Amino acid sequence: MIYSRIVGTGSFLPPRVMTNQEFAARLNTSDEWIRTRTGIVQRHIADKSQASSDLALEASRRALQAADTRAGDLDLIVLATSTPDYVFPSTACLLQAKLGIKGCAAFDVQAVCSGFVYALATADAFIKSGTHKRALVIGAEVFSRILDWNDRGTCVLFGDGAGAAVLAAGSKPGVHASVLRADGSHAEILSVPGNVCGGAIVGTPFLRMDGQAVFKFAVRVLEESARETVAAAQMALEDVDWLIPHQANVRILEATARKLGLAHDKLVVTVDHHGNTSAASVPLALDEYVRAGKIRSGHRVLMQGVGGGFTWGSSLVTL
Ligand code: UT7
Repeated sequence: MIYSRIVGTGSFLPPRVMTNQEFAARLNTSDEWIRTRTGIVQRHIADKSQASSDLALEASRRALQAADTRAGDLDLIVLATSTPDYVFPSTACLLQAKLGIKGCAAFDVQAVCSGFVYALATADAFIKSGTHKRALVIGAEVFSRILDWNDRGTCVLFGDGAGAAVLAAGSKPGVHASVLRADGSHAEILSVPGNVCGGAIVGTPFLRMDGQAVFKFAVRVLEESARETVAAAQMALEDVDWLIPHQANVRILEATARKLGLAHDKLVVTVDHHGNTSAASVPLALDEYVRAGKIRSGHRVLMQGVGGGFTWGSSLVTL
C-alpha cells in the first residue's frame, strides 16, 4: 500500500501589517468590536506588485527547503486559490515557471476557504494511486483584492498570505483519511458573483457574505466533518493531537473544539494575527506551529476547511 506523507511545510506573509486601528480610523468600527466578534487583531496585506503566485513562490521555497527536496524532483503541483493571478493560465502553472521547472502536472483547485484541504486530498489521491511520487500543495490568496473596503461587515475579516506542504510517497501514512463535501445550493451566502465578459466586469467583483448564515453553517459542518473523517480513519477524537480548522473567526474555532470535546490546548489559532486568509489559512497555521516546535513528527493533525460553494472537508494526517 502506498501512502502520502507531509515531509516539509513553508509559508509566507507579505510584510505590510494592517491593524484594527487602521479600520477604526476610516470606518464605523472599532478595535474592540473586531477583537470581540472575530478574535482578529491584525492581518497582512500584499503590495500591489505581489500576486498569489509570488506569495506561493516564497512559501513553496521554504517548504521545499524544509523537505530537503529540489523543485526539479516534483511531479505534481496542486494550488488552491480563489484569487488567481489570471483567468488563465492557472496560478499553479505560473508558480511552476517561477520555480524554474517544467514538465510536472500543475493545476489549480477552486474550493474557496476549503481549498487547501481539497488540494491536499487531491494530491494524496494521486500519490496513493501510484502515478505520482512527490507533490507540492499550496494555498495562496490575495483576498485584499476582492474586498469592498467600505463594507465593515467583510473588509475587517480577511488577510493575504500563502502556505505550502511537500507530500512524498511512503509506506506509512501520512494522510489517513480525507472527506470532502459540497452543497452548491448555499452559493449565495458567500460569493464574489462577478465575471469578465467583453472586456468588462459583469456583476460585482467584491466579496458578499451573510455573516450569520456562514457562521452557523461553519460550526455545524466543521463538527460533522471532524467526526466523519476521524471515523473514516478508524480512529477516535482522542487520537487527535491538534485541530486546525479554517481560521475564519476565533468564535467558530472555539465552538467547534467545544462541540468535539477537544481541550483548548489542542486547538490551533492563528486568525488573531493572520485574519482569514481563505485557502492559505490552514497551511499557514500548520507551518507556524511546526516551526514553533509545537506540532512535531508523529503528531496527528486534523485539518479542516469550510467556505464558499458551500464547500467543506477535513484531512487527518500524521506528521
Ligand atoms: O471563510 C469563511 C468566511 N467567513 C466566515 O466564516 C465569517 C462567519 N461570520 C462571522 O464571523 C460573523 O458573523 C461576523 C464577524 C461576520 C459578524 O459577527 P456577528 O456577531 O455575527 O455580527 P452580526 O452580523 O450579527 O452584526 C451585529 C452588528 C450589526 O449591527 P446592528 O444590525 O446590530 O445594528 C452589524 O451591522 O454589528 C454590526 N457590524 C459591525 N460593527 C462594527 C458588522 N460589522 C461590524 C464592524 N464593526 N466591523
